[in-house]
Amino acid sequence: NQRIAVAVDGPAGAGKSSISKVVAKKLGYLYIDTGAMYRAVTWAVLQNGLDPTDESAVTALLGTLTLRLEPTEEAFIVFVNGQDITEDIRSQSVNQAVSQIASIKAVREFLVAQQQAMAAAGGVILDGRDIGSVVLPNAELKIYLTASVEARAKRRWLETKDKESISLETIKKSVMARDEMDMNRKESPLVCVPEAIVVNSDNLSFDETVDRMIQLIAAAE
Ligand code: C5P
Repeated sequence: NQRIAVAVDGPAGAGKSSISKVVAKKLGYLYIDTGAMYRAVTWAVLQNGLDPTDESAVTALLGTLTLRLEPTEEAFIVFVNGQDITEDIRSQSVNQAVSQIASIKAVREFLVAQQQAMAAAGGVILDGRDIGSVVLPNAELKIYLTASVEARAKRRWLETKDKESISLETIKKSVMARDEMDMNRKESPLVCVPEAIVVNSDNLSFDETVDRMIQLIAAAE
C-alpha cells in the first residue's frame, strides 16, 4: 500500500478535524488542521489590535509571524512566534473574525505554501475548505464531509457549552455566517470538487464516520 494524500473539505462544524485526527492516528498518517492555521493568523491580528478588514495591515503582519503545529498524542499544539495559543484560537472572537481573515489573498498564499510543504511527503490528511481545489489538487482521495446545519451547530454547541455560555441559536448563526462567507468569497471559496466523495454524517455516529473514511482511504491506497 502506498501512503496517499487525503483532502477533507466541508462546511463549519462538520466534524472534519475531530474525525480526521482519529483516522490519521489509526493509520499512522500525519494530520494537518489547516483551519487552525487561519485561526492562528486571526488570533495574531486581534492580539495586535489590527482591524481584520484592513488588508494591508494584515498582510504586513504576516511577515512577522512564525507558525508551528507541533503534533502530540492527542492532536497538536499551535504556536505563533513561540507562544502556545492552542486554546485561544477556539474563542468566539476568533470564530467571528476568521472568515474575514481567510478571505485575504496574501493570507491564503502565506498559509497554502506552508501546507503544501508539510504535505509533500505523502501519508497525510489535510482538512479545510480549499484542500481538494487548491492546496492538493492532485490528492489521491478527496472527501467532502458535510451534515445539516442543525446537526453541525448542535455538535459545536455540545463541544463548547462547558467552556463558554453561548446558546445553540447563536452558534447556529455563527456557523451559517461562516459558511456564507467561505462559500462566496473570491479567493478559493469552499466548493465540493466533482471528484470528491461526499460523506454526509447526519445519520452516522462518530465511529461510523471514522470507519467510512478509513474504508475510503484503504480503497484509494
Ligand atoms: O476548519 P475551521 O472551522 O477551524 O476553519 C476556520 C475558518 O478558517 C473557516 O471558517 C474558513 O474561513 C477558514 N479556512 C479556510 N481555508 C481552509 C481552512 C479554513 O478558508 N483550508
